[in-house]
Amino acid sequence: MSQDNFETDEYEYYLTRFNLVDRAERRSRKASQGSKKAPSPVVERAESRELEEEFTTTYQPGRYEEGWLLSSLRPFYDQGLISDVLAQVKGGKEASVYRCAGHPTTGHEWLAAKVYRPRKFRNLRNDKMYRQGREILGSDGSPVKKNDDRVMRAIGKKTAFGMEVAHTSWLMHEYITLQQLHRAGAAVPEPLAVGENAILMSYLGDARRAAPTLHEVHLDLDEAEVLFAEVLRNIELMLTQGLIHGDLSAYNILYWEGKITLIDFPQVTRSQSNSDARFILERDLARVCDYFAGQGVACDADTLIEELWLRYIGPQEEELWFPSDMFD
Ligand SMILES: Nc1ncnc2c1ncn2[C@@H]1O[C@H](COP(=O)(O)OP(=O)(O)O)[C@@H](O)[C@H]1O
Ligand SMILES: [Mg+2]
Repeated sequence: MSQDNFETDEYEYYLTRFNLVDRAERRSRKASQGSKKAPSPVVERAESRELEEEFTTTYQPGRYEEGWLLSSLRPFYDQGLISDVLAQVKGGKEASVYRCAGHPTTGHEWLAAKVYRPRKFRNLRNDKMYRQGREILGSDGSPVKKNDDRVMRAIGKKTAFGMEVAHTSWLMHEYITLQQLHRAGAAVPEPLAVGENAILMSYLGDARRAAPTLHEVHLDLDEAEVLFAEVLRNIELMLTQGLIHGDLSAYNILYWEGKITLIDFPQVTRSQSNSDARFILERDLARVCDYFAGQGVACDADTLIEELWLRYIGPQEEELWFPSDMFD
């Protein structure tokens, strides 16, 4: 088999495996009306709407932001989930969040769209610690078979498809986690939809301002104690699901109308299968305690990690051993 053929085959393999629509094919479908392959309903609807109306937004994106932003959010518009993009809530190095007008049928006046920037997906190697011990997810959110050498090879070699697979998996972990935790009663935004580069979820805040993060807020002691207990409830709820946030701190907890909401889940870690799980949980607890100790709450991350680890993950192997003097 020639190298060319091999690559074509591999490309096809991933397309099927990850349920991805070939971007080149999509472009050519747009160009030629007479394509033989039946387009998926979503694409078809998107195309017909695209022909009819332009997606214009109240928010005026910058020159370099515009193409990526509109193509990332267009599917939400075409699916009748958002009717406008109103403002940028926060622009980050790796992702930006926008306040959108929710379509009336969603029952949400506003929605938050988190749009990953292309550079995020060039830096996925830095996230290896979190990926260890968790599945690779396809665009339908289901895991790819374990030990799939072709997938690992494609990611390792950073082929275009490998990057796309890693990109999809990273985004789907955030989306699936939001779904799972929202269903389980955690204080997280409600996820509504996911696209190639973006997640659409419920918005915390109002027209004037988005909810601040906890680190921007000073709490009085009574409220701080209640909110600390609520953060702990969420950490424990995650542990019952075998999950650790992985980047928890006062920067990833929103505060709105006296309630907290945990956000930013792409690096979610498996508590049972990641060999760095204890370190990652310990760091989450230390950062949370840092903030709440600053608000006057008595909390000690070292004690907490011992308790939580024992309760949810189990004793360390050494602790299962008989005491060395038992048979003396
Ligand atoms: N659902 C939401 N409602 C309101 N604001 C949000 C929401 N999600 C995120 N934000 C805002 O966007 C910022 C960045 O989101 P986050 O998910 O933490 O991405 P990252 O830190 O990776 O850039 C948050 O700090 C918060 O200010
Ligand atoms: Mg964040």
